[in-house]
Formats: sequence, structure tokens, C-alpha cells
Amino acid sequence: MTGDRVVLGIESSCDETGVGLVRLTADGTVELLADAVASSVDEHARFGGVVPEIASRAHLAAMVPTMRRALDQSGLKLSDVDAIAVTAGPGLAGALMVGVAAAKAYASALGVPLFGVNHLGGHVAVDTLEHGPLPERCLALLVSGGHTQLLLVEGIAEKITEVGSTIDDAAGEAYDKVARILDLPYPGGPPIDRQARLGDPAAIAFPRGLTGPRDPRYDFSFSGLKTAVARWVETEQRAGREIPVPDVCASFQEAVADVLTAKAVRAARDLNVDTLVISGGVAANSRLSALAAQRCAEAGIRLRVPRPRLCTDNGAMIAALGAHVLAAGAKPSPLDMPANPGLPVNTIVIQ
Ligand code: KG4
Ligand code: ZN
Repeated sequence: MTGDRVVLGIESSCDETGVGLVRLTADGTVELLADAVASSVDEHARFGGVVPEIASRAHLAAMVPTMRRALDQSGLKLSDVDAIAVTAGPGLAGALMVGVAAAKAYASALGVPLFGVNHLGGHVAVDTLEHGPLPERCLALLVSGGHTQLLLVEGIAEKITEVGSTIDDAAGEAYDKVARILDLPYPGGPPIDRQARLGDPAAIAFPRGLTGPRDPRYDFSFSGLKTAVARWVETEQRAGREIPVPDVCASFQEAVADVLTAKAVRAARDLNVDTLVISGGVAANSRLSALAAQRCAEAGIRLRVPRPRLCTDNGAMIAALGAHVLAAGAKPSPLDMPANPGLPVNTIVIQ
């Protein structure tokens, strides 16, 4: 339709190569057209975490095939693309460079503007593909293998401020490490979530990090929790007792979900925000979403959680943020823009 613009998004900050396509309509609505993802997660499994060099090489191999799949899904051609958005950071340096180089090549070949955007902003922007425009102010809880942050979003293309973050491990990282302790496969979130359903969340009193009266109100810590699980398991093993894996998983999961939801609701109340978006791989966790729904309902907060496929890293989230940035009239990024592994969250688009 006239006035509509197609935005292509490229994501390569960690172990997923994502290419997404969205349509920005004349009235500012952003619609999902295609979302193709290739993951190198299986290649990292035996190492128990993402190996940067393996991830970079996998991005290189997957980039063009993933681009083709996204175009096929949408029924569009490259010449239909009006703008390209790419994750400029934060993320793994070598992995980011593959996506940034590809995006520059496509943008210059097609003669369309390039927007280097923030991966964290993308995790929030993706929710507009499922639940429509965000209110003027909202709070976002990003929980994944690499990030655990509370963000105040005052316009998805205008202003994103960090309210709190983890001081050590990310929530997903804690899941992956605890899974290793319990001999469960990597990534640890899904198997722990499944085991936890069979266990008692009150069986073991694991610590809730940074919840003392003098602790920072919105920051998180999961390293002490992981150590507490390791100690508990060690003690039981030394005593020759069988490890009750479902109870350990349920009690660990309860500690994570309790702290994440308590601090998110506290921040929303303090900042007078009535909408909470939860995104990132850990947002797929069954206990986290149930407890968040319960606590948000009690506090009169509207909860928005994109479907799991959109919560994990993908190209559609980058296309969505690119579309919002384009709609806001932002200047394109320079073609010599570097990838920035440490890109701060308040830099939504590189200029
Ligand atoms: O967003 P994501 O796919 O990648 C990044 O880290 O950016 O998140 C992956 C993380 C992993 O640590 C994985 O264990 C966790 O999300 N995860 C879960 C669940 N599904 C995935 N954690 C808890 N419960 C789940 N159901
Ligand atoms: Zn991510």
C-alpha cells in the first residue's frame, strides 16, 4: 500500500542468526511479515555455554540462507525492502561484526538507509508486533542468557533508561549453571522448568539475592543462588543421599521468579508505570509468567509477554525496532558504523 515501508532486520549478537521483515504502515503500525532464525545452540551444548568463535563462524554460514528463508516466508524480494536495521550491540564482537557487515552490504547494494540499533531495545520493541503500540511509559524486564535488566521505556525510539541490572550472572546463565550441577542438558532453562513442575518449590529455602533492606532496590544477583544450589547438592551427595532433582529445580526456580517479579513490580510502583513487558529467553519460564501475572494483577499492572518465539533472539525484533526508529524520523547510521559489543542501553540507534 502507498506509504507503507518494509524494514528488514538482522540479528547476530549471540548464537542466533535472525532475519526478520516487518511492515511499517502509514499510521505507524508495525506488522510482522517474516521471522527466520538459525541457531548454533547445538554446537555450543557440549561446552555448556556459547563459544564466541563457533558462533561467529555459524553466523557466517547461516546469514545468506536465513535471508533467503525470510524473503521466501514474506513473498517479498530484496528490492521491496525500504530500510535495513541491524543489531549494532551489545553482544559478542565477532558475532556482531558478521551481521553488521552483511547489513552494510545489503544497504549499499540496495541504496536504502541503514540503522544500527540496540539489541536490548529490540527485545522490548518486538512486543509491539504482538500486542500493538506501547504506552508512553512502560517498564521492561529483560531476562535471557546474557541480560537481566529493568528498563524504563519512555518511547521505544526515544528514551530507554536502565533502572536496575544483575551485578553478576544473568538469570538464564544461572539456569544454565544449575542445570550443569544437576547433570541436565544445555540450555538449562527448559529442562529445569519441566523438572520443577514435578517438585515442591518450598522444599529447600534458597537465598533471594539483594533483597535485604539495605540492598539496591532494583538490582539482581544470581551468583549466590547458584553457589547455594551447588553447596546443597554437594552436601547431600557427601551424605550419600539421592538428589531430589525436581525439588531442587522447583526451589531454585521459585527463588529466581520471586526476586524477578518482586523487583519488577516494586520498580513499576515506584516509577508510577502501569505496564510491564517481560522479554528474553527466560520469559518463556512457566513459573515466572504465572507469578508475574499474579503479582501484576494484585498491583493493577498490565502485563505483556510476547510469545516465546519472539522472546528469544530473532531478526523480527531488530526489524521492529528499526521500524519504530524510522517512524520517529531518526537519521540513518553511517555506513562506516562499527559494531559495539558494549553498546549502552540508552543508545537506541547509532548516529
Ligand atoms: O534470549 P535467549 O534465547 O538468548 C540470549 O541469551 O540472548 O535466552 C536464552 C536463555 C538460556 O539461558 C536459557 O536457559 C533460558 O533463556 N531459557 C529459559 C527457559 N527457556 C529458555 N529459562 C527458564 N525457563 C525456560 N523455560
Ligand atoms: Zn537477547
